[in-house]
Amino acid sequence: MDTILGIDVGGTGIKGALVDVTTGKLLTERHKIRTPQPADPAAVLATTKELISLFNWEGKDIGIGFPCIVKNGFCLSANNISKEWIGINLVDHFSKGTNSNVSILNDADAAAVAESQFGQGKNLKGLMILITIGTGIGSGFVYNGTLLPNVELGSIKWKEKEVEKYVSNKTRNKKNLTWKEWGSELGKFLNHVVRIYSPDLIVLGGGVSKNFELYEAYLKMKQDVPIKTASYLNAAGVIGAALYHKQNI
Ligand code: BGC
Repeated sequence: MDTILGIDVGGTGIKGALVDVTTGKLLTERHKIRTPQPADPAAVLATTKELISLFNWEGKDIGIGFPCIVKNGFCLSANNISKEWIGINLVDHFSKGTNSNVSILNDADAAAVAESQFGQGKNLKGLMILITIGTGIGSGFVYNGTLLPNVELGSIKWKEKEVEKYVSNKTRNKKNLTWKEWGSELGKFLNHVVRIYSPDLIVLGGGVSKNFELYEAYLKMKQDVPIKTASYLNAAGVIGAALYHKQNI
């Protein structure tokens, strides 16, 4: 079974595509439907089913990346989604609701799986930290090709709140921060991460990674750690979710 449907549930859109899990390549266009508001369990399931029906595909294997801590299939956090998700068995909810075989992992972990197997972290010895910058800050740690799930760098306490409240792309837009202002704050955060974890590679993902040259100079990194932008940009979550499901079946 080399074709798996990958789905990436995000705060603004639910995206999906069929993925060839032997090559990590998309076999179809990536479809996106706006995330329903409020994004409660019933509404997100209904939108996910609508997305699945866009693919003329008889397969029953689906990998889903979801923006929360996913422990033993359960949702344990809700920074940027409805609090109604907390405590829900995500695997049950989506398997029964879509009548499919479903695997679920954190969305940034999914992106990290894709980058580690087929992208910037391919064949890397040591620690890759992928950081997705979007509505929130997500992170995925992969050490010698093995995922260390549910590391939530976006929840690090920073001044009065979680760091994602200061350095997400949502905050950059909301506060109308210049690349210099925002890049300097992001740099402090990245230096902090390097100081704690000594990664061998940092990969930046999320839409804002494509503007890297506009803020790279303001990061002022103190240690010489390579920082690269994700190879897959917005498809990493979809691809990684499918790859993860392949490992599970
Ligand atoms: C959530 C993470 C998620 C990230 C990116 C954060 O608000 O806490 O679990 O990975 O957003 O979606």
